[in-house]
Amino acid sequence: MTLDAPREVRTGRSVARVYDYGAHVWTWALDGEPVLWTSAGSFFEPGKALRGGVPICWPWFGPGRSGDLTPAHGYARISEWTLTGLVEGPDATVLTYTLTPADAPDALPGEDWTVTYEVSIGDRLQLALTVANQGATPFSYETALHTYFRVGDVRQVVVGGLDGASYLDKVTGRPEVQAGDVTITAETDRVYLRAGEVVVTDPVLGRRLRISTEGAADTVVWNPWIAKAAAMPDFGDDEWPGMLCIEAGNVLESAVTVMPGSSETLRYAVAVDLT
Ligand code: BG6
Repeated sequence: MTLDAPREVRTGRSVARVYDYGAHVWTWALDGEPVLWTSAGSFFEPGKALRGGVPICWPWFGPGRSGDLTPAHGYARISEWTLTGLVEGPDATVLTYTLTPADAPDALPGEDWTVTYEVSIGDRLQLALTVANQGATPFSYETALHTYFRVGDVRQVVVGGLDGASYLDKVTGRPEVQAGDVTITAETDRVYLRAGEVVVTDPVLGRRLRISTEGAADTVVWNPWIAKAAAMPDFGDDEWPGMLCIEAGNVLESAVTVMPGSSETLRYAVAVDLT
């Protein structure tokens, strides 16, 4: 069994492909140049996550705060979302997707929430994930927009905006503090306790990615490097130099609690400057 084809959206300089499965932004290109990275080895099967684009991690991140939850990164990315809006404007096309407990087999009985995801496709890619609690009790979750960027050579990329930020190094398990810009010289899997503007300077592709967020406490920076890439069945052994994940979200101690009758929104936007 394979996934239904993604929706293709063309607006001005941009073209994007979005799967209803996972409400997954799979590609976004400007003037024909892909901004997002996709693996040639990705699975396209119900029940499995896509490798690339923008997976939605929700309602937990990785194995969750307890460390034993499956599926990894929550069930939102492997659920069928419903397209509930499509508005074509002069500068952007906005797709709206909705997920409810009825769409999510792993939702716990009695949960009463609606997740709404707005994807605005234009010269900028703008994403907004809103979680509304319609139940009678507070509800907690972790979340991340797990964006995979295409880069010319990850070893030459410089990530600015995180100088001085505390982070959890998930490779060593140790807390650290970032000194200066981030460069990638080995397997990198870090949860920075800071969100805000992050700038990825890519000298090989001659562009700068400007990432801004709202409603996020954390920035996750991930590149699997050689051994981990080789160990993943849906990630080509030689693909790791061409990608870098810059994820924004609320994970571990920064998990969000949404009160009854209330909602919380995570926003993530990307702009591309040619250098
Ligand atoms: C990152 C995590 O966000 O996602 C990594 O910090 C993880 O630890 C990576 O390996 C990919 O996760 P998955 O479930 O898509 O293979």
